[in-house]
Amino acid sequence: MTNFRTMNLHIDTRRIKGKRDAMIYGHFIEHFHRQIYGGIFDPGNPLSDAEGFRTDVIKALRRIKVPVLRWPGGCFVSAHHWKDAVGPRRVPGFDKAWRVEEPNTFGTDEYIAFCRKVGCEPYICTNAGSGGAEEMSDWVEYCNLPHEGPWAKQRIAGGHAEPYGVKYWSIGNENYLGGEIGAKSAAEWGRFVTESAKMMKRVDPRIELSAAALADLDWNINLLRNCGERLRWISLHGYWDGLWQDNTFAGYEASMVFTNTLEDQVARVRGLLAAMGLQKRIRIAFDEWNLRGWHHPRVDTGLEPEEYITPRDLNDDNRCYTMADAVFTACFLNMANRNCDIVGMANFAPVVNTRGCIYTHKDGIVLRPAYHVFDLYVNNLGETVLDTYTSDDPVLEVRDKAGNRAETGALDTIATLNAEGGIVIAAVNKDAANPREFRVVWPGGSIPSGYCIHTLTGTGTESCNDIDHTGAAPEPPRAAAYKPEDTIRLLPHSVNIIRFGADL
Ligand code: AHR
Repeated sequence: MTNFRTMNLHIDTRRIKGKRDAMIYGHFIEHFHRQIYGGIFDPGNPLSDAEGFRTDVIKALRRIKVPVLRWPGGCFVSAHHWKDAVGPRRVPGFDKAWRVEEPNTFGTDEYIAFCRKVGCEPYICTNAGSGGAEEMSDWVEYCNLPHEGPWAKQRIAGGHAEPYGVKYWSIGNENYLGGEIGAKSAAEWGRFVTESAKMMKRVDPRIELSAAALADLDWNINLLRNCGERLRWISLHGYWDGLWQDNTFAGYEASMVFTNTLEDQVARVRGLLAAMGLQKRIRIAFDEWNLRGWHHPRVDTGLEPEEYITPRDLNDDNRCYTMADAVFTACFLNMANRNCDIVGMANFAPVVNTRGCIYTHKDGIVLRPAYHVFDLYVNNLGETVLDTYTSDDPVLEVRDKAGNRAETGALDTIATLNAEGGIVIAAVNKDAANPREFRVVWPGGSIPSGYCIHTLTGTGTESCNDIDHTGAAPEPPRAAAYKPEDTIRLLPHSVNIIRFGADL
């Protein structure tokens, strides 16, 4: 058996990184393929409630305590007019982003009702593509004004007397991308966001605004110089395995290489916010992230549905979502916790179907491996993130997607304090083949005499879950006696939560 270095995880409960915002465990859903229609909204299905929402999906989302759900896009929103999807008559529209008919039967009222059932905050992304400041601010009127003006009155006429109180709003989606409908230059964007933010805040000064951004200096300087004082968030997106055109997945080792760049965007935006003196007031909403980019080839060029619509079904192949996705997801959530002083929200993209952590079919749902990572993190880690450091970090030799040699850290750990003062560690072993060990170095004082470990490892790196198959679900939690000199052993390709007693 190869002798690997044992990593040291240095923990000091007096060194606090900060309190993580629960919204780093957020999610996103878009009007794309089967996320809404046939996903969360499935009228007529016996598994749906009277409003057409899938009750099995709601139950699964409540288990992972979804704190916030971003909607309706994504590219979709850049040509979507929210007024087409409210009121008694819903006329189907043509979705120019994804080139399909949009029934408009799932709109603002249905979305808010769904969020209430899940118990999550709504987070609405507005149309900064073909839309403008007035359409955005009218949407805030519809949602948040008690009764003033035509849009609040339309909400009331629809049977929703009380304002929805939507707190989180984003201006635009990826308007920096040439392919986005209503793409804008950095200079245009700064001015556009300012005028949109001005009108939206005039309707409801309480709302918290984000705006589409990326780790680009020119884009962000223009945005923040023009509108920094009106923003509370800056939006970032990240998909590491770009499968938009070619659905050839990065394998396990290549997916581990992608974990090397998880923090890059956050570090660059952190530096810019600090340089502009905004790091205390503006936080990062990483409001679309996933290892896997969504597959939607030839959106601009497809002539026949077989060319650009049918291939979207490939997103729903559950065999593709393996322990690579689970391990990557855990590493991203570790990164978000580590940066909890500036990352206040993160939204897994999407939550249901496509690359989501839940897959729906007419008779039920499949919980893909990434779902179990959210379950383990949300239901075990504490909200206080400790400022730990490691030594003797083991390096893992891997191959990237192009087959080139690469290295990555074999282990990825964070430590938190839970409400009872107990230490809860998340520890990821990225090694595909070998168990790895780490030792906790305590600051002195009383040492816990035992821990409980929850492990998600599957039966191999390619473990997946499907309608008739469960290959990756958490093992039953295991209690272990503990002495300070002990090491903690992590199975290959595993995500682990280690809960020490509160008797520190
Ligand atoms: O591939 C899906 C798209 O990815 C989302 O609609 C957009 O926001 C991001 O570019």
